[in-house]
Amino acid sequence: MNILMVCLGNICRSPLAEGIMKTKVPEGFEVDSAGTISMHEGEHPDKRAVKTAANHQIDISGQRSRPINRSDFKKFDRIYCMDIDVFEDVISKTENEEERQKVSLFLEVLGDHKNAEVPDPYWGDMNDFEKVYQLLDKGCNAIKNQILIS
Ligand code: 4NP
Repeated sequence: MNILMVCLGNICRSPLAEGIMKTKVPEGFEVDSAGTISMHEGEHPDKRAVKTAANHQIDISGQRSRPINRSDFKKFDRIYCMDIDVFEDVISKTENEEERQKVSLFLEVLGDHKNAEVPDPYWGDMNDFEKVYQLLDKGCNAIKNQILIS
């Protein structure tokens, strides 16, 4: 099972989601992340995301931002999008129903459709990053449970 986390810049939300998910999946699972824009390509995650993960004993400092590409739709079994704009952008890159079936909104797994977006903490402060961390941790637990029983 290969899991891809996707946000806009791949420097705040999806790197955190990747780092958290990696601590929860069994051996043999691949977890990666990507962005829908290439503006931050090659950069490490935002310092605030690195610090927030480190506060929870997770090291994401070695990650590098990259944009999603066509081969991701073949390689990954599940593609989780952090917000609706990202979801729509990712869906627009799919080429068939099989690929579309892989794509979902990350927070849908919690069954709360009204609040299905992971807020972008980029313009916020450390408190916003911690809130995002907690939301991602909840979602990753739910994804883990869903995957392990399916
Ligand atoms: P992310 O956050 O999508 O969670 O990585 C952002 C990163 C960069 C920008 C916006 C959001 N930006 O405008 O550069």
